[in-house]
Amino acid sequence: MEFDHVQTDQLLLTTKQVRKRLDFTRAVSREVLLECINIASRAPMGSHVQRNKWLIVEDPALKLAVAELYRKNAEPYFEAKDQALSDERAARVQSSARYLSDRMHEVPAMVIPLRLDRVEHSDMGTQAGWYGSVLPGVWSFQLALRSRGIGSCWTTLHLGSEAEVGRLLGIPDTVTQVAMLPVGYYTGDTFSVTPRRPAEEITFIDRWGQTVGSVAQP
Ligand SMILES: Cc1cc2nc3c(=O)[nH]c(=O)nc-3n(C[C@H](O)[C@H](O)[C@H](O)COP(=O)(O)O)c2cc1C
Repeated sequence: MEFDHVQTDQLLLTTKQVRKRLDFTRAVSREVLLECINIASRAPMGSHVQRNKWLIVEDPALKLAVAELYRKNAEPYFEAKDQALSDERAARVQSSARYLSDRMHEVPAMVIPLRLDRVEHSDMGTQAGWYGSVLPGVWSFQLALRSRGIGSCWTTLHLGSEAEVGRLLGIPDTVTQVAMLPVGYYTGDTFSVTPRRPAEEITFIDRWGQTVGSVAQP
């Protein structure tokens, strides 16, 4: 089977973190979330050790409680950032992040990717292998959602209250929450391509600092 790489590239280039364009009024079925989790579970994991779990929060009272803990961490973060907004794009991201934070409890579903164990006291190799075994699936989940017209936003601000959220949701303290994704259908058609530095600017050849244009290809 050949892929339509133009379409695949378009999916990869325009899958954004969605906040202002989340439709808070349209339900997202459990079925479609499970379908996307099934796809996301195909992402790589070190030694094929399947220690990832997902928690979908649907109950309005629990969503409110998680949203309140999110805001408890987000508000001081936003206030500190207000003093140091670097440019117009940073200001837009901040305004969008505030919008989502204020309405977090209204999202149709919150999805929390989890991995068994804790690694905060482990060496770098262990941490890299451990996070590398769970985070690729989170991005796959976002892509699978997006190709079904569903937006999501990768958030981590609630993790300042990870233990409280854990207690609220009955997550054992031996389990790590790696993110929290509010999920909802998005409004409008597509998304613009995120501006990022070109590959030639962020890639070195053979040695650190050796730019692509400065070395002939063998
Ligand atoms: C690891 C990680 C943590 C993030 N945490 C938050 C967060 O807590 N709240 C939020 O609104 N956005 C969060 N974001 C979204 C970023 O702010 C987002 O990537 C930025 O707005 C750029 O958006 P774009 O990638 O869609 O262009 C996070 C993104 C990543 C990758």
